[in-house]
Amino acid sequence: VNTQPFVLIIFGGGGDLSQKKLLPSLYNLFKLNKLNNDSYILSYGKKERTQDQYRELVKTSIENSFQGEKVRIEDSFLEKFSYLSGDSEKLEEIDEINKYICNFEGIKKYQIIFYLATPPNLAKNILNLIQKLELCDKHFVKKIVMEKPFGVDTESAAKLNKNLNEIFKEEEIYRIDHYLGKETVQNILFFRFGNSIFEPLWNRSFIDHIQITAAENIGIESRGNFYEKAGVLKDIIQNHMMQLIALVAMEPPANFEADCIRDEKVKIFKSISNMTDEYMSENLVLGQYGTGKINGENVAGYRDEKNVNSDSNTGTFFSGKFHVDNWRWAGVPFYVRAGKRLNQKLTEIVITFKIPPLKLFGNACRDMLANELVFSIQPEEKISLSINMKYPGMENYPHPVEMNFNYSKLDTISLTAYERLLVDCIKGDLTLFSRQDGIEEMWRVLDPIVAYFNKINFKFPNYSAGSWGPEKSKLLLEKDDRKWRI
Ligand code: BG6
Repeated sequence: VNTQPFVLIIFGGGGDLSQKKLLPSLYNLFKLNKLNNDSYILSYGKKERTQDQYRELVKTSIENSFQGEKVRIEDSFLEKFSYLSGDSEKLEEIDEINKYICNFEGIKKYQIIFYLATPPNLAKNILNLIQKLELCDKHFVKKIVMEKPFGVDTESAAKLNKNLNEIFKEEEIYRIDHYLGKETVQNILFFRFGNSIFEPLWNRSFIDHIQITAAENIGIESRGNFYEKAGVLKDIIQNHMMQLIALVAMEPPANFEADCIRDEKVKIFKSISNMTDEYMSENLVLGQYGTGKINGENVAGYRDEKNVNSDSNTGTFFSGKFHVDNWRWAGVPFYVRAGKRLNQKLTEIVITFKIPPLKLFGNACRDMLANELVFSIQPEEKISLSINMKYPGMENYPHPVEMNFNYSKLDTISLTAYERLLVDCIKGDLTLFSRQDGIEEMWRVLDPIVAYFNKINFKFPNYSAGSWGPEKSKLLLEKDDRKWRI
């Protein structure tokens, strides 16, 4: 890709996100020749480091992403990095950043991309700092990339958006939801709108229900401080899960441009009505993991994790029944489930079709399963459709078989979510990024749910690490005569 050259300014350049995702992604893109070579990166972090120490950190982050395998990292890549330490709460570094940028010859040909890889509470200060940079008064192409969570509720999200809009136009704001950068997630729209055989069936007349699962077997790792405030609702449901619901449920866009797609997604968020307390008590489940075993190893319960209160009420598991109240989906439940320390890492969307109206094959038909279309997002990346066929032999026995499209069978290089999103941002393609109205609508759905659970005094933990969550999550489907696929 021959992108415009850029200067990327990363706030939080030494932090977790930078080390785990950003730096390795930049390196992989560099190797794939997908970055304009005339591009530079200024990392800004709290910790004092020399340039050499920071470049060493870049190197280690990349090596770690290759599971510690020694990789020879080109000097020409490392030389792109500069490091500046400072306290973004004190705005002391403005001159230094100004100097760095103004030292570039022909600065006007560069686009300036600010990347906030920092905890959300720093956003306001960093925006103040950016606003005071001289470059903001000039005619640079400038962009800002932000990581979720975008606020903590509708009100704070609106405030954050207002702050952003004082400096950036909406089309300069790239709000990352890394789920949208995953290949299999992008394929949902191609699958739906690139074929004429599925879309006629894609509605309440043929679909019985939809299941969306984002299960993780990891715990909260070193993120206790963040997770205590966010919990599963703000960490996963308000963003990744809402986005998946929208991609499955949205109408065909007028065209494939960013705003057309984002318009359709917002319509879906708007069709999810707020729930009453009575509905939530029956159809939503919150859980928190206790001790248990993951891959045969004993693991600690959530309340014993570092930086977590010993009587914490934070949810690490959620499942619930949502409805998209529009013409296409009226009456079709969307069961959503996500959590930490579950039985396995599994992200999938299951479209369960209605079972055939007649049991033509006699009693054996009692076992006939509904056709299921499964978008496996991770760890396996595939799309599979189950269909019932005659089992070979004398018996007239319908038996489910699978038709598969498996990504691992393709001989192509696919970009990771962060690589894809970085390239899109550099190119100026906003399709896979969230828009302000979408963010606020997603919070509008979540606010009452968060408020409802805040009123409850839970007896946590209520599920063991390594299980599939609280028993009530299983019952959520069983009371509707359904069950989770896994
Ligand atoms: C992040 C959450 O957005 O997504 C993490 O903050 C979670 O808590 C992660 O572990 C899951 O992402 P993935 O790509 O591994 O499914």
